Parts: sequence; structure tokens; C-alpha cells
Amino acid sequence: MSGKEVSSFIREEIRKEVGTLAFSPCLAVVLVGDNPASISYVESKKKACEELGFSHRDIELDKDTSQERLLEIIDELDNDDEVDGILVQLPLPRHIDTDMVIRAISPEKDVDGFTPVNMGNLVLGQECFIPCTPKGILALLDYYRISTDGKKVVVVGRSNIVGKPISNLLMQRDRNATVTVCNTHTKDLRAECLQADILIAACGQSEAIGADMVKDGAVVVDVGINRIDDPTRERGWRIVGDCNYAELKDKVHAITPVPGGVGPMTITMLMENTLIAARKRRRG
Ligand code: GUN
Repeated sequence: MSGKEVSSFIREEIRKEVGTLAFSPCLAVVLVGDNPASISYVESKKKACEELGFSHRDIELDKDTSQERLLEIIDELDNDDEVDGILVQLPLPRHIDTDMVIRAISPEKDVDGFTPVNMGNLVLGQECFIPCTPKGILALLDYYRISTDGKKVVVVGRSNIVGKPISNLLMQRDRNATVTVCNTHTKDLRAECLQADILIAACGQSEAIGADMVKDGAVVVDVGINRIDDPTRERGWRIVGDCNYAELKDKVHAITPVPGGVGPMTITMLMENTLIAARKRRRG
């Protein structure tokens, strides 16, 4: 399953729609500190904005920025009528209370879907901004016509960004999956994974899921983006997923590669959420 392919298809649709609008949707991206992965994500987000005709505000703050100052900046963006969506790149430095920062974003501008109001509505199956990575996973499954109805789905990882929202979305009445969510205390992770018709790996551990953990013909969605040392590359590192792609690819019905799988979908869904936010807000 190529996230690159599905992404370019959806991005083209978004680009066309933005072309018909009397305004350009505006995304504010807030980055605190100099985490190399975060810098790279933020760059991809800005690039996507430019490609699709969105405008963007880039707020890059020193790693020592106080929580008070960050909350002030978010408040300004929140009250700025030109800004449709606010994204605060996570993780934030340790001295900052992430929950408090997320709560400072209005649900209407929370294009990441991380605020309690959006998360609560997601669990209730009501209208909300769906977090970008889970939304991207659903879009991939839909594009490749992989039904989750009656399927056994195993999610490895219980994060607020991926594990919690995707497991809730899949168990709802429109998806009808039987969902198991594993965590670091799961007694026998291999036995749980072997049950999966659809395995969603979102544990942040390089190539943790090997061929012995996946049943023949399963569908595997690899959410991991891990940097590992690779002296054979000029830059000294490469990106791998949470699954061992080489081991799994001939065993499964379908799998997402890393890179080029879920990653591009996440950014595309961020653009889609920002477009939705802009349409809603500007309709008046
Ligand atoms: N860090 C890793 N994934 C995400 C994401 O989807 N949104 C934000 N804001 N930060 C992230």
C-alpha cells in the first residue's frame, strides 16, 4: 500500500478545491526547539502548504522558550482571524506542560484533533477533527478497499496520537472491527499479533514486528518512523518502521512501506483538516 500514491491522488483533489476558493486556508505551525525529526516534519508540512496553495505561518521558538510565552503565542494565533489551523509540533521540551498547551487551542482550529473536545467527540462517534495519522490509515485502507468489518485488528501502541484514536475509530459502527490494543505490559505480544487480520504497528520500536509475529495473508500498517545508524549512507542514518519490511513483505496480503507509507498520508490529512477548518470558519 503506497501512501505516496494515495497521497498524491488526495493532494491533487485538495489543490483543485483550494483553487476554487476565494481565500487560501492558513496553517500556523509552531515548533519549539531543534529536534531533528521535528524540524524535518515541520519542513514537510510547510512544503505541502506551498504545493497545495495554502498559506502558512511559521513560528520557530528556542528550546528554552517558557510555557507562559508559548501559551501567549498560541492565544494570539487562536485569536487571529486569518489563521484557520494551529499545529504545535510534538514532542515539546520537558519543561512545558503539553496538555496545557493543547488545551489552549480552540477545538475549531485544532487540526491535529488533539484537544479534549475533539478526542471526546471522536470517542463518541460525533463530528470532530480526526487526528491526522489515524485518518491517514483509514484513507489508505479505504483506497485499497480493505474492509475492517468483522475483522480482528491488533494495534501495537496506546499513544494519544495514534493507538487510542485508531482503536476507537475502528471499533465504531461504521468500521465494526474487533480491536485489541497492546502495550509494553502485554503478556504475550507475539500471540496477540498472530491473531490479527489487520495489524497496526505504532510502538516506536525499530523493526520490532518480525515474520514470526504476523499471520500469513494479514494486512500490516506500519506507523513507525525510526532513525537508525547506517554507516553505509552518506548521512550516517536511515529510516525504518516498527515492522521488519523485508521479512514481512512476501508473507502478508498488503503492507505499508517506510518511508512512503503512512508518513505522507499524515501530512495530507493535515492539509485536509486545515481545508475543512477554513471552510467552516470562513462560511461565517
Ligand atoms: N509529532 C508526531 N506526530 C505528530 C502529529 O501528528 N502532530 C503533531 N503536532 N506532532 C506530532
